[in-house]
Amino acid sequence: MRERLRQMRDEAWKRISEADDTGELDKLRVRYLGKKGELTALLRSMGSLPPEERPDVGKLVNELRGQLDDFLKERLHNLEARELEKRLEQEAIDITLPGRRPAFGRKHPLTQVLEEIETIFVGMGFEVVEGPEVELDYYNFEALNLPPDHPTRDMQDTFFISDDILLRSQTSPVQIRVMEKQEPPVRIIAPGKVYRVDVVDATHSPMFHQVEGLLVDEHTTFGDLKGVLGAFIEAIFGEGRRTRFRPSFFPFTEPSAEIDVECIMCNGKGCRSCSNAGWLEILGAGMVDPRVLQRVGYDPQKYQGFAFGMGVERIAMLKYGIDDIRLLFENDMRFLKQF
Ligand code: PHE
Repeated sequence: MRERLRQMRDEAWKRISEADDTGELDKLRVRYLGKKGELTALLRSMGSLPPEERPDVGKLVNELRGQLDDFLKERLHNLEARELEKRLEQEAIDITLPGRRPAFGRKHPLTQVLEEIETIFVGMGFEVVEGPEVELDYYNFEALNLPPDHPTRDMQDTFFISDDILLRSQTSPVQIRVMEKQEPPVRIIAPGKVYRVDVVDATHSPMFHQVEGLLVDEHTTFGDLKGVLGAFIEAIFGEGRRTRFRPSFFPFTEPSAEIDVECIMCNGKGCRSCSNAGWLEILGAGMVDPRVLQRVGYDPQKYQGFAFGMGVERIAMLKYGIDDIRLLFENDMRFLKQF
């Protein structure tokens, strides 16, 4: 019996010493100290011993139980510490690695140009106002001297929502909305989206942005129009850019003009961007037609005004040398990051 105890102790000691993780250790605990464990079985078999030996053997068994228990606890402690260390090592964060910088957002080139345009005109005393993109036929056409069936309506093929509601094809309706609400003097710009039935290509998009301008006051002349637009062009494209006013036609201005600037790509020599003309059209403008003033209740004998409209995409493309309008709407980060 004593011999068996010693054997069991040596064997248990060896196994416990060699156990490699806490799971294995737990199995050994059950194997030796559990209710159906080897030590318990040994205790039970003591009945077969001569009565005088039982107390001594019993003592030995209990001693061994105590020793094994202590040893198991000690090993468990060590293994747990080792496993914790291993886990900490695995989960460790290498703080010497370079971090990932968050990508900073920036303003879209169109927004940048629009804000620049606004700043220039605000500096000249204009106020920024907005009007609806879903507009009445009346404001988009009729009040601007384009009665139904008038041929110039063809210049702006339009998205109709119903017979008299449409997506505005220009920002000019904002002129009417402003004049209906206030008395002269008026000095506003109206930026916003406009819509036209156009097939997408390098220079066309069914949605684009315009900035409208309107000034109405006493003694307003074409010279004032030239002065304001000249100052604007110089501010946005830089000093020394030659410009020219070409006679043109808009139903709501008389006289009307289109304003060209010397081609920014070739400095007026003629290239693909300007179709070899050396000039690029950037603005439509003119003196407000007296009939438009009359319709909103202004006295055309007393007041005159000038109006202008420009395409924001066009100006952004010229300013930055962008040759395809689609780049402004595709949101390719490689493109946008350049601004
Ligand atoms: N609304 C015109 C267009 O879209 C531009 C314009 C505005 C012309 C104001 C004259 C005066 O073509």
